[in-house]
Amino acid sequence: MPTATQFFGRPLERVSKRYEARFFGSLKTANATFKRTEAGRMAAVDAQVVRRLAASGSRITELLDLGVSSGTTTIELINALRQAGQLPRVTGTDRLIHANLVSLPWGCRALVEPGGHVLQYDVFGAPIRPWRRRLDYVTGMAALGNATNRLLGPHVTHAPAGTPVALVSPHLARMKNVTLIEDDVTRLNPGLIGRFDLIRAANLLNRHYFSAEEMAKAVANVRTYLRGPGAWLLVVRTHNAADHHGTLFRVAANGELEVVERYGAGSEVEDLFTASERSA
Ligand SMILES: C[S@@+](CC[C@H](N)C(=O)[O-])C[C@H]1O[C@@H](n2cnc3c(N)ncnc32)[C@H](O)[C@@H]1O
Repeated sequence: MPTATQFFGRPLERVSKRYEARFFGSLKTANATFKRTEAGRMAAVDAQVVRRLAASGSRITELLDLGVSSGTTTIELINALRQAGQLPRVTGTDRLIHANLVSLPWGCRALVEPGGHVLQYDVFGAPIRPWRRRLDYVTGMAALGNATNRLLGPHVTHAPAGTPVALVSPHLARMKNVTLIEDDVTRLNPGLIGRFDLIRAANLLNRHYFSAEEMAKAVANVRTYLRGPGAWLLVVRTHNAADHHGTLFRVAANGELEVVERYGAGSEVEDLFTASERSA
């Protein structure tokens, strides 16, 4: 796993998908979700969605990808759409995009969320996770990690501002027609209302991430971001590598969402989207 200093200092042409996955896969955010995406994991669903769009003759001019994480799968969706002749403007969101790389005593550093949550320590060039895996108790990393938290943790709050960094693939950050914004899906964002022909929520609207109340808000918000009749919504969750369970919806003439296609068992929150807005 690279340190944040190594990752953000690496020339773009040397940042491979594998290198990105190793870096982002280790970052556990303040709301206990991971900045984790695996290259190629959505390829099968991307292909089916692109086929369906082509069959219906739909033009996608505005795409919204919610909870992009590092954006690896966003790049892949953009590429799948481009291969089918679709060149949408893309908005990618995530609850956490901006972080700071701060200097700590003894030449150490930390990658820190704006709220102060530490994503990674850099101890003399070695990356240390502030969170523990079960394996850490076997390898001895738990003791090292706990000592790092104890010694460096108290200094994080008083550290000077540091260097701002964007927690997304540098390849995505440099793509044309791509805007990345920090956005919490449970809070209505007026700037997104009524704009999008295609919205994807992949591995985001999972029941275990959100309380029932938060999920209801997220569902209501996402619905308002769709442009109107004919717009598409993909909600999908991946279990183990490529075991996808999702639903592709389309906005009908009366404004309700209709199920167009299911992948695996369909989305676990499909019923929340198809419930009539009037009864929601
Ligand atoms: C498992 S990743 C999904 C990445 C990508 N969509 C995929 O399927 O490969 C989940 C992402 O959702 C983000 N997230 C968690 N809670 C969120 C919220 N309330 N609003 C927006 N994004 C959120 C996390 O920061 C994380 O980057």
